[in-house]
Amino acid sequence: MSSSPVFAVAHRGASADAPENTVAAFDEAVRQGAVAIEFDLRLSADGEMVVIHDETVDRTTSGQGRVAALDLLDLRRLDAGSWMHRRFAGIRIPTLDEALLAIGPHARPVIELKVPPPAGLVDHLRKYDLEREALVLSFDRSWLTAVRRMSRDLPLGLLSEGWHHGLPEAARQLDAEVLAVGIDAVGPGQVKAAEGFGLELWCFTANDIGMVAACAAMGVTGIITDHPDLIRTRQSAR
Ligand code: G3P
Ligand code: CA
Repeated sequence: MSSSPVFAVAHRGASADAPENTVAAFDEAVRQGAVAIEFDLRLSADGEMVVIHDETVDRTTSGQGRVAALDLLDLRRLDAGSWMHRRFAGIRIPTLDEALLAIGPHARPVIELKVPPPAGLVDHLRKYDLEREALVLSFDRSWLTAVRRMSRDLPLGLLSEGWHHGLPEAARQLDAEVLAVGIDAVGPGQVKAAEGFGLELWCFTANDIGMVAACAAMGVTGIITDHPDLIRTRQSAR
């Protein structure tokens, strides 16, 4: 079992307490002590990097339609907070820059690609001196390979819902430092196998204290959670 301390990776920000993937959720995650904050990256129709989970805006905004079919200005007109509670009315879909500005000084930005890596991604990270500090996650190995071609220094993490033979080897071949696996597929054997390849094992998504304690007991380091206040440590994410 790993002896490394555990730390919270806020899932879409502190998404239990504020609208997911918004600056309000990132600010709340910082307030709750998250040392890393995960968010989802997509592209608008006019090629701007925006932070939203779903392929469409329907669930988490006042609008309708595919993110990739709407220009940034159209996306920015939408209310991304009222769906959760009226006190969040008027909150907007953030751009990548807004997310990095909100998170960067306080916690590690963990960027999950929901689209192939945009050409400008690394430049945006460099602008805020976050190329070595941030981490890019994806379920898609070819997208991580493309990120590595863009930057030798940007840390990578491979996502997988399940566990299968060869998974840690695949993450190592991608030059990843993190393997993030669905919580039901994680046990002490998986932690040991990942460590054998020099990888940190993170689990997703642990949303109650029992799940968090079980992950910690297995030796997982990063615990992806909608409730970062469940995990309060002094540990840095790096
Ligand atoms: O980063 C892990 C987790 O966020 C992947 O699933 O659906 O929440 O993006 P999803
Ligand atoms: Ca995600």
